[in-house]
Amino acid sequence: MAVSNSREASEAAAEVLKAGGNAVDAAVALGFALAVSWPEAGNIGGGGYAVIRMRDGRAAVLDYREIAPLAATRDMYLDADGKLTDKSVFGHLASGVPGAVAGMAAMLERYGTMPLSRVMQPAIRLARDGFTIDTALAGSIARARGPVTRFARNTPFFPNGEPLAAGARLMQPELARTLEAIAVQGASAFYRGWVADSLVAEMQRGGGIITREDLSRYTPVWREPLRSTYRGYAVIGMPPSSSGGVTSIEALNILEQYPKLPPFGSAGYLHLVGSAFQRAFIDRNAKLGDPAFVPVPIAELTSKSYARRWQASIAPDRATPTRTLENLSSPPAREPEHTTHYSVVDSLGNAVAITTTLNNSWGSGVWVRGAGFMLNDEMDDFAAQPGKPNMFGLVQGEQNAIQPGKRMLSAMSPTIVLDQADRVLLVIGAAGGPTIITGVSQVILNVLEHRMTLGDAMRAPRIHHQALPDSLTYEAGGFGRAVLDSLRTMGHGMREIRSLVNINAIMRVPGGWEGLPEPLRSGGAVGH
Ligand code: DON
Repeated sequence: MAVSNSREASEAAAEVLKAGGNAVDAAVALGFALAVSWPEAGNIGGGGYAVIRMRDGRAAVLDYREIAPLAATRDMYLDADGKLTDKSVFGHLASGVPGAVAGMAAMLERYGTMPLSRVMQPAIRLARDGFTIDTALAGSIARARGPVTRFARNTPFFPNGEPLAAGARLMQPELARTLEAIAVQGASAFYRGWVADSLVAEMQRGGGIITREDLSRYTPVWREPLRSTYRGYAVIGMPPSSSGGVTSIEALNILEQYPKLPPFGSAGYLHLVGSAFQRAFIDRNAKLGDPAFVPVPIAELTSKSYARRWQASIAPDRATPTRTLENLSSPPAREPEHTTHYSVVDSLGNAVAITTTLNNSWGSGVWVRGAGFMLNDEMDDFAAQPGKPNMFGLVQGEQNAIQPGKRMLSAMSPTIVLDQADRVLLVIGAAGGPTIITGVSQVILNVLEHRMTLGDAMRAPRIHHQALPDSLTYEAGGFGRAVLDSLRTMGHGMREIRSLVNINAIMRVPGGWEGLPEPLRSGGAVGH
């Protein structure tokens, strides 16, 4: 079973599963196919995280997040007056050194059974022969017109300057050539061969700073999986450089302190869940960063005793302002000085959860001429100016300031939950910036705490709190007016939004697996 934001990409995974590949083979096939069929977020010009659980009990996590180029500097996005510019989001300076190709090759080599040349076939076919675009992709292309046409003419998405319409065929011959080179020569084609030359030439054309040295030094990192439990169910998550695992586990730990949570949808429940997220994000925003550069107190933040302290600060009927809570959080250890998720399982019970991103939809807007792919704008995930909000309104601190070679803090949260017999129960993750953490945590709560089916758990309305701005955001149409009024009376700043997050998940059900793409977005679950 494979679930992603693109039916074509999920079909690529199913094709590899049918041919005898395992979940990792299929996930890599899906990842490359997604770079063709969902170019707003599927990518080879970005990065991501993979959580892998093999049937024999081994668990592994791979960090293939982008890194800041060697020439990056702390204040590179400030103008002469010290004001933040939009260059961390748009254009050639916005990109971190891409990790996607190195990451996918590394996970295939360690846990796959098929060669890259085999699993990349569906992606190459999709790029070379094209595929018919649906309304979701056509809408995405139309929305990308401004940023993409600003930096490149002649992309396949805008023939004659006009966006491709639904029903048209998208052919990407340059991308097909790039993928073929990777399939034959491996990741080195991207980091050292002619694709690297094209990327560097693109940088030089637009005033970017990624060099051949940046590309040849890039390496993905196998990390120790983050492990916790929620009411006896094991949760395996992504440690920093993503904040996803730590923050979600911290929030779940705070909520676990209550012997039983109030019913789903009640004001009491939303107050507790929102307050737990608020506290976990206070720690996230101040204390987390790339562990290769700053000390990160992972053990403390994910401990049950730490959660008890935070839980004690939650009044049962009153919101606490973020600014007063910040003093309660222990000070950070001082240094000496549009995303997409896919979940895949195979018939043996191996499982892979991968979230990958260009950051914004269509990344920096820069398309690498000659090589046919979009570049990320991941540099905006750093605190480009510590203490000032980024694109997602996240107010982050010194731990996440820009340094050359550093990974920018992420919210991506690919997660695997095990059942009490230690079998894979839930394979989940999401797109949506900081709402990834809160969205994934809520589906886990819906399944483990409220015993919902996957369909109900995914369709249930969601809330979000990220400490600052100090407000409780909720999805329109989901909660009763009386509930919202009660939360307002408790002192929560209530903010309505149409939809918060884009989740793709698989859950074990009697006799097999149920896969479900985000109900409010495009995508496909394909099994066999
Ligand atoms: O790594 C992160 O946290 C962000 N780059 C994720 C961006 C995102 O989810 C945008 N998506 N819709």
